[in-house]
Amino acid sequence: MKVNKASFSASVIAHCRAYHAVHDDQKIFDDFLADRLLTEEERAYFDGSLYRSIKVLKYFGSGKTVPSIIKLFLPRRFKHAIKAIAPEELNQVSDSRSGVDCYMHATGGLALTVSRSRYTEDSLVKAVGEGVKQYVILGAGLDTFAFRHPELMGKLRVFEVDRPPTQAFKRQRLTELGWEIPEQLYFVPVDLTGQRLDEELKNSPYDSKSLSFFSWLGVTYYLPRESVLNTLRTVAGIAPRGSTIIFDYLDADVYDRAKVAPRGQWLLYSLVGAKGKCAFDPATLSRDLAPLGLSLKENLSPSDIEKLYFQGHPGNYHAQEHAHFACAVVK
Ligand SMILES: C[S@@+](CC[C@H](N)C(=O)[O-])C[C@H]1O[C@@H](n2cnc3c(N)ncnc32)[C@H](O)[C@@H]1O
Repeated sequence: MKVNKASFSASVIAHCRAYHAVHDDQKIFDDFLADRLLTEEERAYFDGSLYRSIKVLKYFGSGKTVPSIIKLFLPRRFKHAIKAIAPEELNQVSDSRSGVDCYMHATGGLALTVSRSRYTEDSLVKAVGEGVKQYVILGAGLDTFAFRHPELMGKLRVFEVDRPPTQAFKRQRLTELGWEIPEQLYFVPVDLTGQRLDEELKNSPYDSKSLSFFSWLGVTYYLPRESVLNTLRTVAGIAPRGSTIIFDYLDADVYDRAKVAPRGQWLLYSLVGAKGKCAFDPATLSRDLAPLGLSLKENLSPSDIEKLYFQGHPGNYHAQEHAHFACAVVK
């Protein structure tokens, strides 16, 4: 990630949510505003690059003789991707739309994105019913919660935390769109690897005595483990007992060549980059969190996620094999 640039991944993820909202009839998570946050050029760029990737895969997966010198220089992500997509799926690709569709199904990235957002917002709505007054979105990117839920904004203060360049980019986009910023939405620019989240939150209307709900989606993979642990410790220190944090994480098998699923390899290369950093062992997560002041309440495995959101879904979506959702409570 370039230090002074807005996060590319924030737009990639918004594109996934937008794609699902626009093209899938049965919604797992309906972010009906995500599409409007992307410009026509961005949409064309994402669709075009996904389709080109699928065309390359179709060519290499077609059984045609490929000169070994070309195979040698084929990017590793394509080599993994070929293993991740069934030939029948590639055969069905006939145009840009079916190409993007094939890509969205095959990496598991879209499924991961919409299921973690669904899990989080379902839990948040329940928590608001139980008295939560503040929602802090860590690494918010192009999250649209505060704009999609005017009915909850009267009960909740919402804090979007992100690296300053990404947040500036988002705010600029909101201005261009002419979206009115809800009264109780606050932007808190923080780089979680180099700045103090607690201090920056204290400089905002955040009330450290008020029961709070934190989400941290699609971020832990990008950060050094120490920053992830520090952030979790900070959350436990700045929120009262009973406050909640939901985050998604990759298990360590994703970095083990002998154990990684093909779609896991592809996800690493296409979304996270080859140097993904932090992973947890689901079996010991509870022990990792305890000294930070957090008690693990729920730890959804890929098969739990599959059962909850994808079983019986008419789209060809499946839980990403190495992604887990954790819900922890401040002790
Ligand atoms: C994959 S996006 C996910 C965005 C959003 N949570 C979602 O699910 O749509 C990752 C987000 O984490 C943010 N991020 C990455 N590194 C960060 C850091 N060191 N401090 C704060 N935010 C960070 C990026 O700017 C980006 O918005």
